Amino acid sequence: MKILLLGSGGREHALAWKIAQSSKVEKLFIAPGNAGTANAGSNVNIKVNDFEAIKAFVVDNHIEMIVVGPEDPLVHGIYDYFKNDPVTAHIAVIGPSKDSAQLEGSKDFAKAFMMRHHIPTAEYKSFTAEQYHEGVAFMETLQPPYVLKADGLAAGKGVLILNTLDEAKKELKEMLNGMFGDASRTVLIEEFLDGIECSVFVISDGKDYKILPVAKDYKRIGEGNTGLNTGGMGAVSPVPFASKDFMNKVDERIILPTIRGLQEEHLEYKGFIFLGLINVKGEPKVIEYNCRMGDPETEVVMLRIKSDLVELLEGIAKGDLGKRQLEIDPRSAVTVMLVSGGYPQAYEKNKVIKGLDQVSPESIVFHCGTKIIDGQIVTNGGRVITVSSYGNNKEEALAQSFIGAKTITFDNKYFRSDIGFDL
Ligand code: AMP
Ligand code: GLY
Repeated sequence: MKILLLGSGGREHALAWKIAQSSKVEKLFIAPGNAGTANAGSNVNIKVNDFEAIKAFVVDNHIEMIVVGPEDPLVHGIYDYFKNDPVTAHIAVIGPSKDSAQLEGSKDFAKAFMMRHHIPTAEYKSFTAEQYHEGVAFMETLQPPYVLKADGLAAGKGVLILNTLDEAKKELKEMLNGMFGDASRTVLIEEFLDGIECSVFVISDGKDYKILPVAKDYKRIGEGNTGLNTGGMGAVSPVPFASKDFMNKVDERIILPTIRGLQEEHLEYKGFIFLGLINVKGEPKVIEYNCRMGDPETEVVMLRIKSDLVELLEGIAKGDLGKRQLEIDPRSAVTVMLVSGGYPQAYEKNKVIKGLDQVSPESIVFHCGTKIIDGQIVTNGGRVITVSSYGNNKEEALAQSFIGAKTITFDNKYFRSDIGFDL
């Protein structure tokens, strides 16, 4: 099979690494990819939102499957674009339709969906600028801290958590006045949930589904979960508190009603569903849906899938996922993210990365923000590279990843050395 994978981060390198291991793959292309994905397939210089250029490439190269890494093309309707064109309708697109991708593209849509299907989540109400005073009145009925969320996509920055009512009122006004552009024309005010989070990934063909290994990511820049939010500084899998009992609740109360709800509402969904969950005293609640895999969670989840991923993706496309097997590696996997000093604020690019060839074969290096200039691999983003490793437990896996994290060098490198500390 000829496959095109869209995206350019660590998630895509991990997906490419796993896809490339399949005997079913004749050729793997990654658009646009990074310096790492070039080792798993061929990079193609096309942007993920340039549907016309993607179509031309796919037709010329007889691509049979498109695997969509990031949310943006999904929310913009790449699934429908290919399905509704007779020239490309036969090509499998792994991802939800535009309507279904609203589960991530609109938090208001996602919340209303959860309410309709009785899926446990935080209490909420949504408000537009004209309803500012009603929003304040609703906040006054809640206990601090106050959670404000932009309805639309805001590059992971659209959630504010405020400790006082005064701050919350002020931020609500700013959000409604366009702090996140169109994304915060509608703002959700939510009940604050206190607990520990985890990421549950599901693949579905729209009828059947399989639960991939559960992971936990570390979003804050500083050790001990302090400082600014980032895209993710590391991840572990499995997650000890995601016990059999907890996962049974997740399955019964969240996953099954989600898949059934999508079916009942004729929302086509053939792809990955990412459930951001919080464990509130043993009870799982949904913080958010994403219509894609997580980053850096994918960099541990792919290590723990023993089965051929392409075989499963084929099941999603053909609608016979129920007949296919998902085998999971019982070992632990931990990934550590190496970032550019200054990230998630200003940082420099184009720093030469050294030591990549000295990393022990026991670790797997996935590139995030890298590119090749004059034959040298250089930094090209805040999140640069992850080092993933296996272990009989998370401590072993972490120790192995740290060796790799120290072996790779570039100017102003920083990483968190406490990934998994709270589990
Ligand atoms: P989201 O973009 O919806 O995932 O929110 C970003 C982060 O904000 C989450 O990962 C949580 O840590 C936090 N968060 C969001 N909603 C809530 C909530 N209702 N209660 C507590 N924390 C929340
Ligand atoms: N690691 C969280 C995310 O991918 O959204």
